[in-house]
Amino acid sequence: MKQSQLQKIRYTYEPKLPPAIRGDIASIALSLGEPTQAIRDQEALKKTFAHTYGKPIATMESGGTNPQAGARRTVGVILSGGQAPGGHNVISGLFDALKKANPENRLLGFLGGPSGLVEDQKIEITAEYMDDFRNTGGFDIIGSGRTKIETPEQFAATRKTCKTNKIDALVVIGGDDSNTNAALLAEYFVAQGDPVQVIGVPKTIDGDLKNEYIEASFGFDTAVKTYSELIGNIQRDANSAKKYWHFVKLMGRSASHIALECALQTRPTACIISEEVAEKQQTLQEIVSSLAETVAKRAEGGENFGVVLIPEGLIEFIPEMGRLIAEVNDLLAIHGTEFSGIAGPDEQARWLSGKLSSESAPVFTSLPRDIQHQLLMDRDPHGNVQVSRIETEKLLIQMVGEELKERARTGSYQGKFNALNHFFGYEGRCAFPSNFDADYTYSLGYSAFLLIANGLTGYLSSVRNIAKPASQWVAGGIPLTMMMNMEQRHGEKKPVIKKALVELEGAPFIYFARHREEWASRTSFVYPGAIQYYGPDEICNQPTITLRLEQGLEA
Ligand code: FBP
Repeated sequence: MKQSQLQKIRYTYEPKLPPAIRGDIASIALSLGEPTQAIRDQEALKKTFAHTYGKPIATMESGGTNPQAGARRTVGVILSGGQAPGGHNVISGLFDALKKANPENRLLGFLGGPSGLVEDQKIEITAEYMDDFRNTGGFDIIGSGRTKIETPEQFAATRKTCKTNKIDALVVIGGDDSNTNAALLAEYFVAQGDPVQVIGVPKTIDGDLKNEYIEASFGFDTAVKTYSELIGNIQRDANSAKKYWHFVKLMGRSASHIALECALQTRPTACIISEEVAEKQQTLQEIVSSLAETVAKRAEGGENFGVVLIPEGLIEFIPEMGRLIAEVNDLLAIHGTEFSGIAGPDEQARWLSGKLSSESAPVFTSLPRDIQHQLLMDRDPHGNVQVSRIETEKLLIQMVGEELKERARTGSYQGKFNALNHFFGYEGRCAFPSNFDADYTYSLGYSAFLLIANGLTGYLSSVRNIAKPASQWVAGGIPLTMMMNMEQRHGEKKPVIKKALVELEGAPFIYFARHREEWASRTSFVYPGAIQYYGPDEICNQPTITLRLEQGLEA
């Protein structure tokens, strides 16, 4: 691989660890708290996780003794789901701790996500191979995938892979679904009497795998800083030329954490928060009217430009659209074969309109033809519409444009509305991790090994107090069952880790809501610039504004 200059220099970066885990591995012990409870549905979860439910929170402490630390181990690792900056450093942290504990320990990387485990596709990660990936973005070290291990056959195949390779422990690096899977695997191995331990690591740029104990998922920091740089650049262009409205859709399948953090960083003209739309039961037309109002007001002051941020998941949070999408998902699941036999998207759309409820059919037919087609595109492996492929930003531009035309016709708007659309997602998922993500992920991987070395299973590696400098970070493990509840999935109640949506009573949203009118009426753009890896702490080692506000610090 030809390395860029930055990659060469980043190779020499030494990620920081929390103080308690910096010493000899055999001297790191765990302090265990009281038994824990799931957030809801405790009785049902106790049954599903008969052997692993309710374990205590673990905190790592230096100055102890762990006689098992140096035992010879083989550990397997998978990367699961969408890429997030720092995945490679989780693996390097895990690798370094494992080799420090016993140089004969082995790390096997299963290829292409969970399917690699089911199909026993792997490589051994050696020191030389590892070095090429230190402090870099991407998941290309072993690849990733979205296969879910759910059938009894897949569980049995995973067990066989672990037996064949004499695996002592598995580390699953993934989001809420993958870590739910990790919890089920941990329970399965104990129930089978197999000593394979399973430890999860919280990953997702979406930032929706978090709670009181997991303060952030890794990758969020780098992704939002990358998008904020791009938004800032666009804002400066908009403010220079003063002739375009930019509608920017931002990744984040469900939650609006990415859009909210980018708004806090860049102070755009407007930012929609899906959770607020759902809470206020806003219709698509209401959202459009409110944006048209902002455009018209700015036009009165001669400002025919602005930047609007739109969360990727918005479409499903608009009540009438959410209902429509749920109906389409169900219809395509039930009549999949008939549907795929219909030639052409227009015919398919016509077929669907005839099958939708009397409530959803007019909503569907009122949508532009392109959006109708996008709603009918291939489903993801869970049977859901792929929201990143629905061009909400274009839909809003078109509808706002129509409303402004109408306003112009009645004389209530005189301005120019030239709008451009953007979608930022893939631009940030594999960026070189920020120093924060490089340190955080290395620490999470290192801690994952320490949880294994201390005999735990069914835990999520955790590093807390992360709004403060790494010298104050606290490493440990959170029992996976503690974050779970039962949710309806495809007609059945299933145990799942609860997704963290934007809280409308939370400090980040309150801060945004307090300032947004000012940002809409008076251009208040902030230009964050590119992520800095070297230089003063104020620009190289700052957590996100979301994290700072959540931890009671200044924005
Ligand atoms: P994870 O939840 O797996 O971390 O993935 C997040 C994400 O980046 C979403 O923001 C986005 O909707 C989705 O992945 C897109 O995934 P894909 O590239 O597989 O279509």
